[in-house]
Amino acid sequence: MSKLVWLDKAVFYNIYPQSFYDSNGDGIGDLNGIAEKLDYIKEMGFNAIWLNPIYDSTFRDAGYDVTDFYKVAPRYGTNDDFKNLASEAKKRGIKVVLDLLAGHTSLECEWFKQSSKAEKNKYSNRYIWSDSVWDNGDDTLIGGYSERDGCYMKNFFYCQPALNYGFKNIEKSWQLPMNHPDCLATREELLNIMRFWSKLGADGFRVDMAASLIKNDPNSEGIVELWNDISGRFKKEFPESVLISEWCYPKTAIEAGFDIDFLLHFRMKSYTTLFRYEKGTNQGKQWIGNSYFRAAGQGDINEFLDEYLDHYENTKEKGYISIPTGNHDMQRISLGRSTDELKIAYTFLLTMPGVPFVYYGDEIGMKNIDGLPSKEGGYNRTGARTPMQWAKGKNLGFSNSDTPYLPTDNAEDAPTVEDQLKNENSLLNHVRNLIKIRCTHSALCADGGFETFRTGYPFIYKRFDENETLYVAVNPSKGAVKADVHEAKEILLAHGMEINEKKLTGNGLSYIIYKG
Ligand code: GLC
Ligand code: CA
Repeated sequence: MSKLVWLDKAVFYNIYPQSFYDSNGDGIGDLNGIAEKLDYIKEMGFNAIWLNPIYDSTFRDAGYDVTDFYKVAPRYGTNDDFKNLASEAKKRGIKVVLDLLAGHTSLECEWFKQSSKAEKNKYSNRYIWSDSVWDNGDDTLIGGYSERDGCYMKNFFYCQPALNYGFKNIEKSWQLPMNHPDCLATREELLNIMRFWSKLGADGFRVDMAASLIKNDPNSEGIVELWNDISGRFKKEFPESVLISEWCYPKTAIEAGFDIDFLLHFRMKSYTTLFRYEKGTNQGKQWIGNSYFRAAGQGDINEFLDEYLDHYENTKEKGYISIPTGNHDMQRISLGRSTDELKIAYTFLLTMPGVPFVYYGDEIGMKNIDGLPSKEGGYNRTGARTPMQWAKGKNLGFSNSDTPYLPTDNAEDAPTVEDQLKNENSLLNHVRNLIKIRCTHSALCADGGFETFRTGYPFIYKRFDENETLYVAVNPSKGAVKADVHEAKEILLAHGMEINEKKLTGNGLSYIIYKG
């Protein structure tokens, strides 16, 4: 499979729809709200958006519990509103990527209601069921829910029963092989969902829990086979569409046919060593301890590079690795970081190979709001999902409602888009500059080459192609730094760092991007 040309220059903005912009004053963000903000998105330089789920849902997991895959949730609008959003985006050169819930549905999905009936029907095998309610040895098996005798397998929370794509290794009589006609039917339905939204204007999908679909598949052979089939067939019909995986193992995900795989806070350690170093065993609690991008300067960039380079070298001809600023599942990157520290982190993120993703609000340094009660299955993730902060005033411009579904940051100094647009040195303008520099220098784009020049503080790397060679140096620590480098022929962006006669000197919290 060849690479999609448009991904080379793509810069994504990740929108959590319920928290972005409420256009009709009911307290919840919606599709028309996103459409109203497309000019802002374009102004920032983003040319693609990924929307967290917009489908009809029970919202016990923020929309990741779908009741109807073919219908926009009424709180977000209608299918026509989606069509309109996609066409308005297209006019502005912005691609629209949807979330694809391939692995599970809500308990209230009509398919599951049928599946949980005692009498056999078309949907009996749409989900994974043991053949007796007492066959519940595995803690993913939930018993006592239905009139059907058996336990359903959950894919994530209990309210998300796993769709049945089959088992690679069969150990029990109720475990169906991948090529069972009912498992193949699930696969066909997934393709239909993909076709449906693509025809309405979607430019691709971010696939939720992409690695979870085939069960008992310790070497990932089954899941790679499944996605190769789905992506191969989908791409024949929609060759310009992108498939992005929430897999967090690029070597396998790209081999499976995805264009992009995310580095995230699970499965691999490279993401957390950059930003959210986890200590201890308390799952769900993330720490920034010794992460590399901290003023404390105690991190080791090699912990990232060792893993990253292995995946990068093995995937760069076929696909991309994305290192997002954050997402709806982890604490905001601003947690424990000053604006200056964020500027350095973003200088790195927007000059790395692969496709950058900025989580809404990270461009203004929105805070992780601690201590909020869990909303819609957010639990400790809720603090990273609060409404976008557009301007001073009621609900910081998010909504006219007196009862927004989640409160906005009530801090006196809560950052807003309006303020930061006016301030040349704001984080927002830094992000905008970085995107501009990236998109005007092919060496900095997704396909440009990448080589490490120096590790430690500062971390220096080379980005290059047949047109030019650029270097990026970042010093996230508060200590001054020095390094021997190449002569700088032209400086594209710098703060607190300079190069004279092949000597780089930098203050604490400094960066430079230059031509070598
Ligand atoms: C993914 C989503 C997360 C959701 C889970 C179950 O990890 O990003 O928000 O809770 O899958 O769908
Ligand atoms: Ca609304």
